[in-house]
Amino acid sequence: MKSRSRRPDIGLILAASLAAMLVGAGASAAGPGDSDCMACHAEVKPRVVLDVLRGSAHEGLSCTSCHADITAVPHGKPLAVDCGLCHAKEADAWRAGPHAKAGGPGCVDCHGAHDVPKSSDRRSMSSHERQIEACGGCHARLAGGRQWVKMFDESVHGQGVIKQGLNLAPACATCHGAHDVRSLKADDDAKAKREVARLCGSCHEPAYAAFEKSAHYKALSQNVGRAPGCTDCHGEHSIQAPENRSSSVAPESVPATCGRCHADKSLMANFGLPADRLSTYLKSYHGVVLEMGDLRAANCASCHGAHDILPSSDPASRTNPSNLEKTCGKCHPGAGRAFSNIRFHESVSPTGARGAWFVRVFYTIFISLLVAGFLLHIITRLVGWRRTRRKSAAPLGKGMEGGGSHDKS
Ligand code: HEC
Ligand code: HEC
Ligand code: HEC
Ligand code: HEC
Ligand code: HEC
Ligand code: HEC
Ligand code: HEC
Ligand code: HEC
Ligand code: HEC
Ligand code: HEC
Ligand code: HEC
Repeated sequence: MKSRSRRPDIGLILAASLAAMLVGAGASAAGPGDSDCMACHAEVKPRVVLDVLRGSAHEGLSCTSCHADITAVPHGKPLAVDCGLCHAKEADAWRAGPHAKAGGPGCVDCHGAHDVPKSSDRRSMSSHERQIEACGGCHARLAGGRQWVKMFDESVHGQGVIKQGLNLAPACATCHGAHDVRSLKADDDAKAKREVARLCGSCHEPAYAAFEKSAHYKALSQNVGRAPGCTDCHGEHSIQAPENRSSSVAPESVPATCGRCHADKSLMANFGLPADRLSTYLKSYHGVVLEMGDLRAANCASCHGAHDILPSSDPASRTNPSNLEKTCGKCHPGAGRAFSNIRFHESVSPTGARGAWFVRVFYTIFISLLVAGFLLHIITRLVGWRRTRRKSAAPLGKGMEGGGSHDKS
């Protein structure tokens, strides 16, 4: 708030009192009008700029419709304005939410006092850009906020809004609401995870429809809170397209994202599921090749799907024996049945996964021979080259042994 001058301007006060006396008598019946207020507040601090009000969402409202406790002038210390007089729905929601309870922002902090923008104005809170600025700006100053607000700005949703002005992409209030701001924290709460999934699904219908059929969603509907919802795989403020290398669902990151749960021994034991899926994958041909940077190699989602994951015992599962030919065939056209019979998650051994074992043994022997061959080739070439050099440098043809011992020194 602006500091007021300690020594009051006598002239202004006199003028203001005179104005008040002049308008006071006529105004008392209907209460003071705007011109009564402006007679002082155009000049006396705190000053009011009438044009600000006239350009706002509230143009047309009188001063006393908001400053309702001022029924006569001159006035005493007025009460704070209650926006809920006219916006009861928003005010009730706000009172029930964490902002009112935790001493967070009130109406004026987000909307302004006299300069409340019209909804057509880009500075209005209904504009996505403004929310990212206002909500994000304040939250970045709270404990731990800086990092995730930055993540949101850089996310596919934040960039959609900031860079492309995309109002289809969600801003803060799209997900959290504006007045009763829900935290959406799910932790291990299956019901909350289903609600967030529905929220994401309101825009991402195909992903949601597929997810609803999955083993993961089935577990959520049976109140298994540790089954994944959308944000367990995608993050909430850091969501990126799978093509973005920093995404948690980029091909090279999928194994770690699934592995966070599927390599957790105590969690998997609860469901009678093996906890070696990540380790066996990482040792498999695909795992090794992916780690080396070949993004075409199969990751967990290439074989299991991402959203419609089902147990392999389910005939509709991509990993059901009857569907493997198709699943592998996506990348190994004409691979055929025998190829698809390779047991994937078994440690590679002649009894476990014979095909993979043969492949590995073949490659190991083949590559070893290849490397040995190359080395032999290089050595014989070097020796040969030196021989011919010596011969031309020493026409009388000294013995090779002497040259050899010289080299050793
Ligand atoms: C006679 C001159 C005069 C008139 C007329 C007048 N005011 Fe004021 N008003 C003042 C002065 C002087 C102050 C500063 C008081 C202070 O700093 O304690 C003030 C302060 C205020 C404040 C700020 C209070 C605060 O807590 O900072 C509001 C709001 C206000 N007036 C509204 C109105 C409205 C609405 C009208 C018309 C209904 C009106 N005033 C008419 C002289 C006037
Ligand atoms: C839409 C409601 C609304 C209308 C209409 C409105 N005001 Fe206000 N006014 C506020 C709010 C909100 C504040 C911030 C302080 C508070 O919360 O009470 C405020 C603050 C003020 C202040 C103190 C400003 C300061 O800088 O401390 C004055 C003076 C004032 N109003 C006068 C007026 C006058 C004169 C009019 C009519 C020309 C008017 N107001 C119309 C809502 C309104
Ligand atoms: C944390 C910031 C914040 C606070 C605090 C807040 N609002 Fe809002 N308000 C918003 C946002 C954001 C929107 C846009 C709603 C949307 O897009 O869903 C909005 C929308 C509105 C609207 C409808 C405008 C429109 O564009 O349709 C009104 C009216 C409103 N708020 C009044 C209030 C009142 C009254 C209070 C105090 C009780 C308040 N707001 C407190 C952020 C806030
Ligand atoms: C005397 C009743 C009244 C009071 C008090 C009041 N408003 Fe409003 N407000 C309105 C009216 C009327 C509109 C215009 C409605 C419309 O265009 O749909 C409006 C519009 C708005 C809008 C914009 C809606 C839009 O479509 O963009 C916001 C935001 C808003 N008010 C916030 C506030 C805030 C914040 C306060 C308190 C500082 C407040 N209002 C106090 C009556 C009031
Ligand atoms: C003026 C600062 C400020 C603004 C602006 C602001 N907030 Fe807040 N917000 C707070 C404070 C303070 C808290 C309570 C302390 C806390 O939980 O971190 C809070 C709490 C929250 C919470 C609950 C967090 C929890 O853990 O329960 C959510 C969600 C939230 N704000 C979302 C928003 C959204 C959405 C907007 C914009 C529409 C917004 N905030 C604008 C300061 C702000
Ligand atoms: C796509 C939906 C979405 C958008 C957009 C979004 N959030 Fe969130 N936000 C979430 C979810 C989901 C959680 C719960 C995370 C969890 O489970 O811990 C969350 C958590 C929070 C929390 C509480 C947890 C914490 O880390 O402190 C705050 C505060 C918050 N968001 C504010 C914001 C603000 C401010 C913006 C805009 C800059 C925003 N959110 C944008 C979905 C979203
Ligand atoms: C209001 C609608 C809306 C909501 C709600 C929403 N999104 Fe989005 N999402 C979008 C839009 C629009 C894009 C595309 C942005 C772009 O391309 O710039 C997008 C992009 C994405 C992408 C990248 C998609 C791709 O193919 O590149 C992912 C992943 C994503 N969202 C996941 C989520 C998740 C998870 C949630 C819930 C926490 C969520 N979204 C909530 C609208 C939404
Ligand atoms: C078990 C982890 C997981 C869960 C849960 C999950 N996703 Fe995904 N999502 C992925 C993976 C992995 C990709 C990468 C694309 C692929 O490999 O098919 C992806 C891709 C996406 C895309 C990009 C376009 C597409 O459809 O391929 C969107 C949008 C998306 N997910 C939204 C969602 C939404 C919305 C939810 C919740 C209803 C959700 N995801 C739940 C793992 C998951
Ligand atoms: C947040 C933890 C979590 C994440 C992340 C996760 N899962 Fe799961 N998954 C589970 C739990 C828990 C179950 C057991 C559900 C049940 O059976 O009730 C499960 C079940 C499965 C099943 C079905 C097993 C069966 O036979 O019932 C498969 C297949 C599966 N997940 C694969 C994946 C893949 C692939 C990914 C990554 C794209 C992934 N999961 C990510 C926790 C997770
Ligand atoms: C090349 C394809 C392929 C890849 C890559 C793959 N899987 Fe599998 N996965 C399968 C097949 C086929 C089965 C069923 C037969 C078996 O158990 O070996 C299976 C079985 C499973 C099961 C046991 C439940 C069931 O449905 O039978 C889980 C859990 C699982 N995989 C998770 C993962 C995870 C996590 C990853 C990534 C770290 C992954 N898988 C990578 C093909 C694959
Ligand atoms: C997303 C694509 C993709 C899927 C799906 C996929 N693979 Fe592969 N696979 C690859 C790539 C890429 C290589 C490496 C090929 C190379 O280096 O020439 C590879 C290599 C292999 C190899 C070793 C090299 C060879 O060509 O013999 C075997 C065995 C193999 N895959 C089996 C399978 C089986 C079985 C399935 C189904 C359960 C499967 N793959 C599904 C992409 C995939």
